[in-house]
Amino acid sequence: MGGLLGTPGKALALGTAAAVVLLVVALAASGIDRVGLIAVLLRWLHVGAGIVWLGMVWFVNFIQLVAVAEADQPARGAIMKHIVPRVALTFRQASHLTVVTGALLLFTSGYLGGSLVYSSAFFIPTSRNILMWAGVLAAMAMYMFVHMMIWPGLRLVLGIETRTPEQIAAARAKVATYARWNLVLSVPVTLAMVAAAHT
Ligand code: HEM
Repeated sequence: MGGLLGTPGKALALGTAAAVVLLVVALAASGIDRVGLIAVLLRWLHVGAGIVWLGMVWFVNFIQLVAVAEADQPARGAIMKHIVPRVALTFRQASHLTVVTGALLLFTSGYLGGSLVYSSAFFIPTSRNILMWAGVLAAMAMYMFVHMMIWPGLRLVLGIETRTPEQIAAARAKVATYARWNLVLSVPVTLAMVAAAHT
């Protein structure tokens, strides 16, 4: 395997190029105003980042934690050294991108400052507002769990910070608990976001 598929970065660039071609064709066919285009691009980034973040949440719960529990000591060491840090970096970065693009989308979709973005206030039915803000609240809880519970705990588990074995065992339990909470919340957050955008 080489050339355009040689690295994940190159494969991603290929996929992005295909998406840009699609977008240009769609724009040429139907046309779109500037705010609409920004909204499409933001939504694309937001959904992409959300997929990566939630993909990691599901991977951690259904694969990584199970593998760590079943592995013998050398295998566990290999998982901790080669997989967990990469997974943690990926979900932390994806969570930042999801929240930043989501916050910007609140404006381009008219949930905040509608009358500033559009010439007249953008009407959003109450039910959609409730769905969206419930989703945002739950997503922000997920974000706090990542950065205030899971990552600080993982720093102890991975040995980035040195602590006693008891503190490390407590950190491991905390990481697993909040990983589970994020799995729980991933389901209603996705429903709330999609329903707010499409009902
Ligand atoms: C786990 C985190 C999140 C996930 C998985 C997620 C996922 C999604 C999905 C799938 C959509 C639907 C896009 C569509 O169908 O058009 C969406 C839309 C949206 N999201 Fe999120 N989101 C998350 C967090 C957030 C946060 C934290 C915010 C705000 C700070 C936010 C704001 C929005 C907005 C404003 C929309 C557009 C809704 C509309 O146009 O009516 N999201 N999100």
